Amino acid sequence: MRIFSGIQPTGRKHLGNYIGAIRQYVEGQDRGEAIYCIVDLHATTVAYDPAELRRYLYDTAAMLLAAGLDPGRCILFRQSDVPEHTELCWLLTSVTAHGDLNRMHQFKEKSAKQRELVSAGLFLYPVLQAADVLAYNADEVPVGDDQRQHIELMRDIAERFNERYGETFVVPRHRIPEVGARIMDLQEPTRKMSTTAPSEAGTILVLDEPRAIEKKVKSAVTDSGSEVERRPDKPGISNLIEILAAVRGVAPEAVEAEFEGSGYGAFKQAVAEEVVEYLRPVRERYEQIRPDEAELERALREGAEKAHAISHEIVADARRKMGVGAPR
Ligand code: TYM
Repeated sequence: MRIFSGIQPTGRKHLGNYIGAIRQYVEGQDRGEAIYCIVDLHATTVAYDPAELRRYLYDTAAMLLAAGLDPGRCILFRQSDVPEHTELCWLLTSVTAHGDLNRMHQFKEKSAKQRELVSAGLFLYPVLQAADVLAYNADEVPVGDDQRQHIELMRDIAERFNERYGETFVVPRHRIPEVGARIMDLQEPTRKMSTTAPSEAGTILVLDEPRAIEKKVKSAVTDSGSEVERRPDKPGISNLIEILAAVRGVAPEAVEAEFEGSGYGAFKQAVAEEVVEYLRPVRERYEQIRPDEAELERALREGAEKAHAISHEIVADARRKMGVGAPR
């Protein structure tokens, strides 16, 4: 089985990225042929700083290695090093409905936030994402819940291509974790945790110092009750229950049962301590790995060579089926 996922080199990675996606990448190495891509081309679809993008790319690569990706057991590479992604993106636009792209939640949200320019790249973002996965004929795509619609679209694109040009692509399925697929902001628990939140207090960064994590968890917004229960009118407590369950690798019901009657104070204390210990080894390894950019670059290049060897054949097949390029 082939597993593929992509992650943006934007800003610093947070607990939602880690629980929803990154730890699934690590597990993927034991379940199949795992391929992971740092999507620098996707990061150019909104305003960005080129020098910062380079730095963030290394930050993200170091973070993934610190989390447990092993270049001996997976393929880790930078999207722009493998030109098949952009080529296939263009080929796939011929089987992508304009109306479908207009309906993408993420496009609506992100385009509303742009101050100067809503780029055509932002509109085509999901097609490049489809190309990322289809270029490897991946079976499974580990992602958080917010990527559900993008995966549905890439399935439609693959099916339409196969119908029109003949069987070419594997139609991939998502792998969304049962617990922790949508970690919410600690200050505004009705919006998902993200690095673009108005306040940093609601976002736990993977590299946050223990004291910062503790402070953020303890000041997390909760309701005025005291029951540690998941309920629609308790989004803050529900989120903390989900976080602790994900960190422990247990069902949320087990967390509810353990903290029944103990009140919010003791519960938040436990969440803070366990999140600190959960992220500690990643932060420590990151500090060792991040300074050696030459080594990061070497690992990414090696990954790109392996990725290219796979995607080259698959994209050449798509080109042939579409009747473009010299006949072979
Ligand atoms: P990105 O970089 O925004 O996010 C990386 C992963 O983190 C997950 N995630 C979350 N999970 C749980 N709770 C949250 N609050 C949370 N926030 C983010 C995301 O679902 C994602 O899995 N479009 C993708 C990148 C991409 C990609 C691909 C993914 C490009 N090509 C091909 C899969 C396959 C994105 O923006 O991820």
